[in-house]
Amino acid sequence: EGLRVYDPAFLNTAVVKSQVSYVDGERGILLYRGYRIEDLLKHSNYLEVAYLLIYGELPDKLQAAGWEKQIMTHTYLHVKVNDLMKSFNYDAHPMGMFISSIAALSTFHPEANPSLAGANIFLQDVKLCNKQFKRIIGKATTLAANAYRHRIGREFNSPQNGLGYTENFLCMLDCLGEADYRPHPVLVDALDKLFIIHAEHEMNCSTTAMRLIGSSLVDPYSAISGAAAALYGPLHGGANEAVVHMLEEIGSVENIPDFIAQVKNREKKLMGFGHRVYKNFDPRASLVRDVLYKVFEVCGQEPLMKVAVALEQAALNDDYFVSRRLYPNVDFYSGLIYKAMGFPTDFFPLLFAIPRISGWLAHWNEMLADPDLKIWRPRQVYTGEAARPFVPMSERP
Ligand code: CMC
Repeated sequence: EGLRVYDPAFLNTAVVKSQVSYVDGERGILLYRGYRIEDLLKHSNYLEVAYLLIYGELPDKLQAAGWEKQIMTHTYLHVKVNDLMKSFNYDAHPMGMFISSIAALSTFHPEANPSLAGANIFLQDVKLCNKQFKRIIGKATTLAANAYRHRIGREFNSPQNGLGYTENFLCMLDCLGEADYRPHPVLVDALDKLFIIHAEHEMNCSTTAMRLIGSSLVDPYSAISGAAAALYGPLHGGANEAVVHMLEEIGSVENIPDFIAQVKNREKKLMGFGHRVYKNFDPRASLVRDVLYKVFEVCGQEPLMKVAVALEQAALNDDYFVSRRLYPNVDFYSGLIYKAMGFPTDFFPLLFAIPRISGWLAHWNEMLADPDLKIWRPRQVYTGEAARPFVPMSERP
């Protein structure tokens, strides 16, 4: 049967050739399509970054305007999707609502599934794909806003497609029915920056899920739902929520030594620390911290910040973490920003999912254009029983 490489958790497997993003784990460098994340934060905005990721180049002025306009016209949801979301329990986790309702969108756009549309599945319809990208990015914020409004028992707000992407999202969350309601510009800018920081990160767990599901040639709505499910886990995008629960549990600075002892005893994990690729620092973590201070200026300092800073310092000076090269990752401080902004803790992973959609779609696009595309089907090393006779129930004790 030939030689098989056993590589649990894909520690050492490169499964694609990709041009979307580059991570240098030793030097802490992150590039989207060759552009430094720091430069994108300084000069760009989330929707432009989404375009860059998906199509490979920065848009010209006309393309940028068209892209934004089309995405914003796709923010509206079918009334039945709203009804579906209203049917969730009042305390349903926002990620659960999002994962289900984005999958439900596939039933509203069956033409996105080439086999259902009766098309030749090997013939990729680029125009059709582009339409789905705009729909998915546009509707994601409306689904998320609905999930939030449902949790607080309020009516859903309609999108305002004359606003920018991130501003409209914040408006849909909070709008009190006042036509002139506008979120604070510093908070719009902060969230947009966080969207850029979270947009893409090469072959992480959820992007791998996106590609794996997509390799069966299913529609992108179903694949995004699967990718979002992978992101929901506490070791991945759910870590931002888990960090805040951890900080609340620690409660105050004097409890940190006890908590660190529990981590070293392997009873707990230090959430928001460690990364498969970054071994010296996660450049996103310091960018998140810059955003954090700007948000605190508007919203006031989040009281848990004191515990977070002391916990980070304690870990960075402890041999357990130093010897394993564990540093704060993107999720360590992002939750404190969301908390300061007033988001409920279980909403945080969804704030990661919304922007990561552009990374998933960039990989989707690249996948469909890949001449080496085949269904992903790894092998296993079988360690079970050899063939054995079946014992009927009457002969069992
Ligand atoms: N707390 C305590 N010990 C840890 C931690 C942590 N957060 N992370 C890694 N370790 C230990 C781990 O126990 C292992 O020790 P040993 O060799 O003695 O068994 C060693 O460090 C290597 O860790 P690993 O689990 O083999 O590393 P990995 O590459 O498989 O996992 C990780 C990476 C991010 C899942 C892991 O570091 C972790 O669980 N971190 C906490 C969750 C988290 O913050 N996730 C967000 C990741 S960044 C954004 C994203 O991708 O969503």
